[in-house]
Formats: sequence, structure tokens, C-alpha cells
Amino acid sequence: MRLFLDTANIDEIREINRWGVLSGVTTNPSLLAREHGDVEKAWLLILEEVDGDVSLETTEPEAEAMYEQGLKLAAMGPNAVVKVPMTTAGLTAGRRLADQGIRINVTLVFSPAQAILAAEIGAYIVSPFIGRIDDAAADGMHALRQICEIYDVQGYETEVLAASLRHPMHVVEAALCGADIVTMPYDVFIKLVRHPLTDTGNERFLADWEALQGELRGGGNDPARKEGA
Ligand code: E4P
Repeated sequence: MRLFLDTANIDEIREINRWGVLSGVTTNPSLLAREHGDVEKAWLLILEEVDGDVSLETTEPEAEAMYEQGLKLAAMGPNAVVKVPMTTAGLTAGRRLADQGIRINVTLVFSPAQAILAAEIGAYIVSPFIGRIDDAAADGMHALRQICEIYDVQGYETEVLAASLRHPMHVVEAALCGADIVTMPYDVFIKLVRHPLTDTGNERFLADWEALQGELRGGGNDPARKEGA
């Protein structure tokens, strides 16, 4: 399963990238608006920083204009993936882009029925929004499980990207469902690393190590210690 960061903030991307686990980035218009800067510049920086896929979202509501915009976004870098929304215009533009070999990510997917449509137009990625399904008092993980099962049974090659993840258990459950990719915000990435027993265990190891160094500096030639007594 590939781990993506859901952000347009280059500092967050650089930090997680240093860990060696980052396989891609997803951006959307709301995330870009949060950064308040030049959008094209932000996309180019991200495309350069990350070796893997970077999703750039179209913002044109009509199919023709969305298709034209998709062509431009795809040309921004070899790792650019064009995001189109799950709308009739998104399907039309997405199909044309996919037919030309452009990798598309169908976003704003909330049901298995929509995921079937995304696969049928030849999408490279489908993005079901797990957290937002939960927000609507439905079961996001159940929808994800169904999508993964349908894709498996039908032999669809479209990759399932579990999006709108809110906490580490979403990531774990998405992995169990068989998601190909998960995308999560910076704070969820940080929470994945943390465990209180790791923190206390690490503190103990370091304290014991320091104590041993002190002991060795003070009387490191004690023969009894060398024999392990
Ligand atoms: C995915 O590509 C979207 O950018 C994202 O996961 C949306 O998540 P949100 O519901 O936290 O905004």
C-alpha cells in the first residue's frame, strides 16, 4: 500500500519525505487556498520534491474546459496525475484524458456505484472520501471494502485511494480492506509514528545508555564487569 500526503504545504511534504515513506501527494483547491500563494508555483515545487504521483485537481466545471485544463495539468510534470470530479462533466473529460494515456484520479467518490463508473472510464485512481462518508452518518469503511471487493471481482485495474482519512485507525482499516493507496493529512502521518510505549521505551534505553557511559568513564576497567558479573 502506498502512503500519500494530503496537503499543498511544501514544508510538510519535505518533512515527511525525509522519512523515506512518502510515495505521493494529493492536492485539492481547498488545500491550495490554505497556502494563499501562487498555485502553479506550489504545484511545480511539489512535483519536483516528490518522486511519486502528485494529483492536481481541475477546477473547470464544464467538460470541454475541464479537458483542456487537464491537458495543461498533465504537462506540468511526468508525475502529474489529473484529478477530475465524479460529475457527468468529470466523466466526459476524464474519459477523453484517459483515452490519451493521461493518468486521471476520479475524486469526490462516495459510493461503490460511482467507483464502478470511475473504473469504466479507465481511471488510474479512484478516490473514495472515507471521513466525509462518516460525517454523513454512513459507514465510509464499509463503502471502501465494497469498492475493493468489486474491483477485485471485476478485475478493474484502477487503483483504490482511500481519501479523507482522519486518524491512524482509518489508515490501518484501509490497509485491511486492500486499498492500494491511502492519503492523509500531516497530523495523521505524525500520529502514525507515535506510540507512548515507544516514547517511554526509548527514554529508558537512552537513560540506561547514558548511565552505562558514566559508569565506564568512572571505572570502565572493572574486571568483574568484563566477566558480566
Ligand atoms: C483527497 O484527494 C482529498 O484531497 C482529501 O482526502 C479530502 O479530505 P477531507 O475530507 O479531509 O477534506
